[in-house]
Amino acid sequence: MDFIKLATERFSTRDFSSREIEEEKLEIIKNAARVAPTAKNNQPHKIYILKSEEALKKIRENTRCAFNAPVVFAVCIDGEKQWKQPFTGELSGNIDAGIVTTHMMLAAESVGLGSCFVCYFDPMKFKKDFSLPENITPVALLPVGYKSEECEPADRHFIRNEIKDTFIEL
Ligand SMILES: Cc1cc2nc3c(=O)[nH]c(=O)nc-3n(C[C@H](O)[C@H](O)[C@H](O)COP(=O)(O)O)c2cc1C
Repeated sequence: MDFIKLATERFSTRDFSSREIEEEKLEIIKNAARVAPTAKNNQPHKIYILKSEEALKKIRENTRCAFNAPVVFAVCIDGEKQWKQPFTGELSGNIDAGIVTTHMMLAAESVGLGSCFVCYFDPMKFKKDFSLPENITPVALLPVGYKSEECEPADRHFIRNEIKDTFIEL
């Protein structure tokens, strides 16, 4: 599909069907994460796949924003691998995780799946519940699945600033 059409038609999916996701489609999403750019190509991301009943129960207790997705990816950053911006000292982990998650979100759309970029969850509880190593920090969740028949974009999906109000030529 043409990229702009794909990017325009994608919307945050918050209601999923129970239809199982084919393994090939999950592989496409994983590969999209693999090829995502990261600062200095440090690739500080580790991604947990939550699809067992037990894992889904835990994440749904953590946040209402896991919705009823059959699979939830949790994009995490290894604090020891992220790049440090030499001028400001800022660390690249959150930016890297954002790019990786976006790659996965668009890949999901490209194979006919819905998803939602989610930051509304408790990363500390996640770390504890899933016994993550000390250096690994969860940044974003990506619930993924087939869209339910009733699923529609939220009203705010349609609210976009005009290009002229966003771009400033210097
Ligand atoms: C960094 C980030 C965090 C977000 N966190 C959440 C979230 O926790 N829960 C949720 O339902 N949507 C979340 N969203 C989805 C946004 O609300 C959504 O992308 C925005 O309203 C535009 O709608 P659209 O994705 O349907 O085009 C998040 C999106 C981004 C980029």
